Amino acid sequence: MEDRSLGRGRASVPVVGLGTWQRLEAAAASGQHRELIEAAITAGIRLIDTSPMYGDAERLLTDALGAQRDQVVIADKIWTPSAEQGAAQLARAVDWYGGRVDLMQIHNLVAWPAHLAMLEAARGQGLVGLIGATHYSAAAFGDLARLMATGRIDTVQVPYNPVQREVERTILPLADELGLGVLLMRPFGEGQLVRRPPGPDQLTPLRPFGVTTWGQALIKWGLSDPRVHVSLAATARPGRLAENAAAGSPPWFGPEERASSGAKSRYGTHKPFLRSTWRGPLGVSFSAEVGAGPSLVALADRDIDHVVRGEFPIQADVPRHVALVQAGDVISARAIRQ
Ligand SMILES: NC(=O)c1ccc[n+]([C@@H]2O[C@H](COP(=O)([O-])OP(=O)(O)OC[C@H]3O[C@@H](n4cnc5c(N)ncnc54)[C@H](OP(=O)(O)O)[C@@H]3O)[C@@H](O)[C@H]2O)c1
Repeated sequence: MEDRSLGRGRASVPVVGLGTWQRLEAAAASGQHRELIEAAITAGIRLIDTSPMYGDAERLLTDALGAQRDQVVIADKIWTPSAEQGAAQLARAVDWYGGRVDLMQIHNLVAWPAHLAMLEAARGQGLVGLIGATHYSAAAFGDLARLMATGRIDTVQVPYNPVQREVERTILPLADELGLGVLLMRPFGEGQLVRRPPGPDQLTPLRPFGVTTWGQALIKWGLSDPRVHVSLAATARPGRLAENAAAGSPPWFGPEERASSGAKSRYGTHKPFLRSTWRGPLGVSFSAEVGAGPSLVALADRDIDHVVRGEFPIQADVPRHVALVQAGDVISARAIRQ
């Protein structure tokens, strides 16, 4: 697996990490949390992200790591509005992880001014390696960008997948400019993007990139942006870790493979791969031909019709997924009135 520096001049880490939200507890429920962490380490997945927000995950991680603690980079979080509780969360994590947390992040920017000062002091004492901040919502990216610009954090953790591309506007360019580490969350859109994967035949064009499964295509999609350093892919299944780890090696996708209508909102963003012009006014069925491929295209699904996200208003409750399209494919779509 490829290693990338977590921001300019910082420690190198393997590009595929393990998320623990809900999945470590799920593994524990089937008696597999130790096996899961063992399989991650064996596969080379050696950065593990957790949080006090994830129920029992931090404690389960300590329990599963045992004597292997030094083989992994722990990315934990502080998540509380209380400065006092924040200090207690840090002390607990430092105790659990052998005297030091490699990366301590402020979860969802909650009470960040108080926690940041506390973490800076802890870093001075060697209890914390890097300091980061996370947010899952694009609505908070303005606040996150302002914190990044202070120069007081080393990393950010944000959602990034073919249907959640808001970070491309400000967060990724700013992180690149400032030399910050970027960990991406939700490579599978919390599982939504893997519910109806394309068949093996459709993945054939991605084979030269080492991709044999849809999950690997999604991990590779995120890591093919060089401004990203780690993809946090969460699973409760030990058997999936070798598959996910394999997506962390080059060759990386070029612009054609990454091209996606995603969550872009302007018509122009579709031009690289949608050759034909859209036919039919809003509310009427239309189709478009894919001009370059293979491409990952974000779609909203509604019965037999598809709507390319962002081109026309879509209903908020329409399930989304990502499809793999080839040059010459026709996407049939129907715009849905809001
Ligand atoms: N604000 C924050 O700081 C924040 C917010 C959200 C997430 N995060 C972090 O980011 C991590 C990842 O995000 P996420 O957990 O929301 O979602 P995710 O990683 O996008 O999706 C997890 C889902 O994908 C499935 N999956 C994993 N590998 C697969 C594969 N190869 N093929 C098909 N399905 C696969 C898993 O199912 P199985 O378990 O059945 O494999 C699980 O249901 C979190 O665990 C957490 O550490 C942080």
